[in-house]
Amino acid sequence: MTPKSPLQQIPADVVALADYERLAPEYLPVQAAAYLLGGAADEITLRDNSAAFQRLRLRPRVLRELAGGNTQLTLFGQTLDHPILLAPVAYQRLLHPQGELATVTAAAVMKAAMIVSTQASVRLEDIALRAEAPLWFQLYLQQDRGFTRELIQRAEHAGYRALVLTVDAPVNGVRNREQRAAFALPPGVDAVNLRGAEPQPLARATAGDSAVFASGLLEIAATWKDIEWLRGQTTLPVLLKGVLTPEDAVLAIHAGAAGIFVSNHGGRTLDTLPATLDALPAITNAVAGRVPLLLDGGIRRGTDVLKALALGASAVAVGRPCMSGLAVAGALGVAHVLHILRAEFEAAMALTGCRTLADIDRSIIFEN
Ligand code: FNR
Ligand code: LAC
Repeated sequence: MTPKSPLQQIPADVVALADYERLAPEYLPVQAAAYLLGGAADEITLRDNSAAFQRLRLRPRVLRELAGGNTQLTLFGQTLDHPILLAPVAYQRLLHPQGELATVTAAAVMKAAMIVSTQASVRLEDIALRAEAPLWFQLYLQQDRGFTRELIQRAEHAGYRALVLTVDAPVNGVRNREQRAAFALPPGVDAVNLRGAEPQPLARATAGDSAVFASGLLEIAATWKDIEWLRGQTTLPVLLKGVLTPEDAVLAIHAGAAGIFVSNHGGRTLDTLPATLDALPAITNAVAGRVPLLLDGGIRRGTDVLKALALGASAVAVGRPCMSGLAVAGALGVAHVLHILRAEFEAAMALTGCRTLADIDRSIIFEN
C-alpha cells in the first residue's frame, strides 16, 4: 500500500499521542513503520515502559494556591521552559522528507530542547541553524577516535550545549519486527554526519547475529575508561544515556558524568529489561541529588511526565510519539505532540496541587 502524504492540517479528532501512533503506519512504508514502532525481540520491555506508567495512581491535592505557576527548570546552566525533551532518533528522513529539520522547527516553536542523534540524516550544522531552544548532541563513540573528536568539535562550534553518550547499545538489539519487514535504509537516507568515518562494525551487524563475540564489535566497544577520554575532549556536560541500575549510576558519577539518562533505549536493545519508571526509584536513591536524572521510554501522557518527575527525574525525553507526529504531519505534527504533552502535564500538575516543578515529589503518588 502506498503511504499517504503528510497532512497539512491536524484533524479535529487527533487529540492524544496514541492517535498519532495509530495513524503513523498509514503515512510510512512498512519497513520504516517497523523501524520506528518496533522494539527488541518480543517487545516486552517496549510495552512495559508505558504499562509501568499506567500501573501508578496519582494522589490529588485540592484548594492549593496555584496562581503564578510555571514549568520552568534549569539544567546544566540552561533554562528550559518545560521538562519535555525530544529524544535522539536516528534517520528522521525515513519518516518525513524534511526529517530533523522539521523536528527542530517544531522544537523551536514549542521551546523544547532537542537531542540530535549521531545518526541524524541531516547535517548537525543545518539543524542548529533552525534551533531556538537548547540542542544537545547524542554521541555514539566511533572506532576512529580522531573522527569522534572532530564530531564533538563540530557539535560544539554549531552551538550544541551537552553531549549525551549512549552506552546501552554496543551491539544491535534482536529486532524481529524489522527483520520480518526486511528493513534496510532506502537510498538517499544515511548518517550524513558520519560520512568519511570508517564504517562501524555496529552498523554492519545484523539483528540477532550469532557472531557478536567473533565480530570484533566488543573489542572496540566503549568502556568506563573512554568516559575519561571523552571528558578530556570537551567542556560540555557529558550525560550517559542507557543507565538502568544504581551501581552503574554511581560509577557514572565517579566517572564525571554531569547527568544520567535512565533509559532502556525504548525497548529496542535488550528485551525483558525493566521499564525505566520501575528502574528509576533505586537510581534516584543511589544518586541522592548529586547529578540530574533524565528518563525516557514509554511517555505517552502528561501524567507520565508528572510520575517520572515525582520519582526523581528532572526532565523526560520522548521518542516515538514525536516521530509519529513527524510521519503524520511533519513539523506541525511534532509541535502538536509536544503541545498535547505539555498541556496534559500542566493540567496534571494543577490537579495534584503542584505550582512549580519543585512541588512535584513522591507525595503525589498514591500508595496503598
Ligand atoms: C531511537 N533511540 C535512539 N537513541 C540513541 O541514543 N540514538 C539513536 O540514534 C536512537 N535512534 C532511535 C531511533 C528510533 C526510531 C527510536 C524509536 C529510538 C532511542 C530513543 O532515544 C529513546 O531512548 C526511546 O525512543 C525512548 O522511548 P519512547 O519515547 O520511544 O517510548
Ligand atoms: C536505534 C539506534 C539507531 O535505536 O540507536 O535504532
